[in-house]
Amino acid sequence: MKPLIAPSLLSADFLRLQEAVEMLNQSEADWIHCDVMDGVFVPNISFGLPVVQAVHRHARKPLDVHLMIVQPERYVKAFADAGAAWLSVHYEACTHLHRCLQQIRNEGMKAGVVLNPHSPVSLLENILGYTDYVLLMSVNPGFGGQAFIEDTYRKIGSLKEMIVKQNLEVLIEIDGGVHAGNAASLHAAGADVLVAGNAVFGHSSPSEMIRLLKNI
Ligand code: DX5
Ligand code: ZN
Repeated sequence: MKPLIAPSLLSADFLRLQEAVEMLNQSEADWIHCDVMDGVFVPNISFGLPVVQAVHRHARKPLDVHLMIVQPERYVKAFADAGAAWLSVHYEACTHLHRCLQQIRNEGMKAGVVLNPHSPVSLLENILGYTDYVLLMSVNPGFGGQAFIEDTYRKIGSLKEMIVKQNLEVLIEIDGGVHAGNAASLHAAGADVLVAGNAVFGHSSPSEMIRLLKNI
């Protein structure tokens, strides 16, 4: 099975987002990753609901919305209405995670939990059964173009073990510092979905890079 590829719009030219979305529509990308940042949970502000809505109007691939915001439960319905198909919230930002994941599923979306690099996979033991995917941050959230944190491989291994042990079908998504040089080993380690921002949009031919990542 090939990995699913989710290019991150964070690294696209925001004045030419429509072109970026049309390129993704034509490409081998599986999902379109949208990074929403509030300047509180992470030290950066990216874009919010109106941009996700606009992307959704042109996108022919599911939107994978990664919320890097505090109190994400306040915005679950709004992001469903904006067109998110997959919605992930940070373990570190959500006090009532179980309730929040239920809200996401009740809105008809797939529910994901995100772990920061410092958060151990063991935190997920009692919530894994309520998630459709786990996003492991392989950089500190907030910015594109950072170096991949190697410890992520061990986390993929323990998460995979936990998923198998609980007999679940939870996808593992890796976000941060993914490129053509580590995509194959991440996939071999158990990653199902690879997010790539800089690797795709920093390349002279983004769709060619997507094809490369998809067919590693
Ligand atoms: C970082 C975001 C990532 C980011 C990845 O906070 O969650 O999705 O766009 O960018 P690269 O692939 O450049 O590390
Ligand atoms: Zn992301």
